[in-house]
Amino acid sequence: MAHTQASSASPTLAFLTLVLSLLSLARTVRSALPPLGDINTLFVLGDSYSATGFNPSKGYDQWAQSPDTFGSGRSWSMFIANSTRVPSALYDRTFSLAEGGTPLSPDRSWPNFPKDGVKAEVDRFAEYFVNASTEGKGARPVWTGDRTLFVIWFGVNDFEIAGKMGNLALPVTDGTFDRLREQVTRLYDLGARNFLFPTLSQFHRTPTIRAQSTPDFDAPSEYEAVYLRWNAKLKETVADFPLTLPDANVQVWDAWSWFGQMLDNAEAFGFKNSSTWCSAYSHLKWNYADVPDQDKPECGLSEYFWTDAAHPTYAVHEYLADSLIETLSNPQDTLVIEFNPMRLLNPEKRLSRRMSALSLRDGTSPSHHQHLPRHSRRMRRVPKRWDVSWTAVDPDTVGEA
Ligand SMILES: *[C@@H]1O[C@H](CO)[C@@H](O)[C@H](O)[C@H]1NC(C)=O
Ligand SMILES: *[C@@H]1O[C@H](CO)[C@@H](O)[C@H](O)[C@H]1NC(C)=O
Ligand SMILES: *[C@@H]1O[C@H](CO)[C@@H](O)[C@H](O)[C@H]1NC(C)=O
Repeated sequence: MAHTQASSASPTLAFLTLVLSLLSLARTVRSALPPLGDINTLFVLGDSYSATGFNPSKGYDQWAQSPDTFGSGRSWSMFIANSTRVPSALYDRTFSLAEGGTPLSPDRSWPNFPKDGVKAEVDRFAEYFVNASTEGKGARPVWTGDRTLFVIWFGVNDFEIAGKMGNLALPVTDGTFDRLREQVTRLYDLGARNFLFPTLSQFHRTPTIRAQSTPDFDAPSEYEAVYLRWNAKLKETVADFPLTLPDANVQVWDAWSWFGQMLDNAEAFGFKNSSTWCSAYSHLKWNYADVPDQDKPECGLSEYFWTDAAHPTYAVHEYLADSLIETLSNPQDTLVIEFNPMRLLNPEKRLSRRMSALSLRDGTSPSHHQHLPRHSRRMRRVPKRWDVSWTAVDPDTVGEA
């Protein structure tokens, strides 16, 4: 009897082994994203780190709309769109559907913030970018799956809200990654083929998380631990996509290491202050302006890593854009792709450009800023349709991502 069981078990085992080795084979045949030079349309789904204020219900020209970013300046996708090192089509065909405060999971949301998580952004995508036609009133940008990249970057708000709900680990223990799978599958069914998933930034190093520490709660290390679990689950989830989505190219961008290297070497990148933010800016919302950090006598904004308690300044966004351009222009055939931002400091010319901008500021005493002719230099460089102004934002939103 025991013998019979053993012999009937072994074909089952052999079959299982075969299935498992086929599965692992499938994992290794995943192909890299096409080089950025072959991409002519970019869609971004995410939260405040990726928000631009673009609203497709107002038309498809993001530059004609008022920006609404969280870095007191251009957001990373705006820097990419306007870069000379990417296909020029991206200038008009970079669409961020990201909204501040959006978590991945529809089960969590801030009061008065977007609901339905990533699903809400995919809904918008389906509403405004599917069934494209070049003709007539309903003309939409025509995109093809092979030349379009989707960047999907979430997570910070899931943890912030879970923390407020008293269960920080919820995003890595509930069905959050099933929700991601559903929405990515939906995008795939609508024609999407190329997907990039950045990991979490090192958000535990933001002033807002550091400020949550109490004698009983070491906030940065508690958050770091759950963030690392999220990143591991993200990699697992993404590694499995090719099993169910044939022809999909999926990669994970190691934003975690990128932010770590930026923060560890903040001074080398020109940030004199990476521990806190300049409050003169934190309650203000930037509008199109070329040199946004010369308005305030208290501080030069681009010398700060943080623009408020939770968000990096536009100067960080510019480095982020440059790094993504470098990474995506030179495909790496691994699930997790990365770029060490220290490489941006070579060639020298970039560093010296930034350093000379900073030393210019250093030569001016803070009070002297007040006597500078207001906007004189930059007005000439700002196209007319952009209004140059700062307006107050709801202080409650500062601190949310
Ligand atoms: C694009 O880059 C150019 C050159 O750096 C700059 O003058 C212009 O203001 C930028 N435009 C946008 C829309 O960011
Ligand atoms: C696109 O058009 C097809 C055919 O008319 C229709 O079945 C489908 O629902 C449309 N999809 C969207 C997202 O509008
Ligand atoms: C950073 O900026 C804050 C606010 O402006 C200031 O109080 C602090 O001393 C600065 N830290 C450093 C290291 O410059």
